[in-house]
Amino acid sequence: MSMTIDARTDTDAAGTAAPPAGPRRFRVFRYKRGDERPHYETFEVPVGHRTTVFEALRWIQIHRDRTLALRHSCLHASCGTCGVRVNGKEGLACVTMVHDIGREITVEPIANVPVLTDLVVDMREVFERFPDDHPIVRGSEFLDDADTPDGIASYERYEDCIECGLCVSACPVVVTAERYVGPAALAWGERVLEEPRGAEVANLLSWANAPDGVWRCHAIFECTAACPSGVNPAARIMSLRGTLLGRRLRKQPRGSDPT
Ligand code: SF4
Ligand code: FES
Repeated sequence: MSMTIDARTDTDAAGTAAPPAGPRRFRVFRYKRGDERPHYETFEVPVGHRTTVFEALRWIQIHRDRTLALRHSCLHASCGTCGVRVNGKEGLACVTMVHDIGREITVEPIANVPVLTDLVVDMREVFERFPDDHPIVRGSEFLDDADTPDGIASYERYEDCIECGLCVSACPVVVTAERYVGPAALAWGERVLEEPRGAEVANLLSWANAPDGVWRCHAIFECTAACPSGVNPAARIMSLRGTLLGRRLRKQPRGSDPT
């Protein structure tokens, strides 16, 4: 019997033994500082029915090449650090099932962000798209006026965005318009508008209305398709546009700043 990465992967939900799903051929993007250009290396990986892309990459790292560099932290779709492209499609490696993909699996770093080494990218390129004094995730806050069940004093509110950068990777506009602030930052901006918590709304709208802001978006919705966290960046960009247009129609003569 072939050895799989994880014994549980050979058991279905009812506990019935299932035949191993593997092996799979992984074609992995490789690049180290000083290399003239990136290349791909191929590995045969024994997988089970519930093996994730991350587990397969770790298997390669442990059993075939310890120099393979990849990022991860939570392993449950919360931290956003394991984002990659799998057969050209953005996804979180820790929750992307090998079984659903096919026999040949190409894993590459996310796009539109500089590659540091192998599957590791420089995420500063994503964060620098945000206004200077704004973090991508705002601090949580207690909602004292929310209806809560007995025994719970208050709900704590968090943000949905996990800072993975998959929307920036998937955005076809970022490819050609480097200065476009992009879907993650604009989605954040719309979220702040939704619940300003003391933020300077006029400054925010001015930033969103700038030449590299919301009007650069081509409304292709690839960012929304790529987002693993339900943020729906494209809809939020459309909403920001609606807010800007509404203000322009209500308040300002044609061609002036609606903020
Ligand atoms: S909006 Fe979605 S895809 Fe973009 S960084 Fe946030 S969680 Fe990731
Ligand atoms: S390791 Fe945290 S989202 Fe995948």
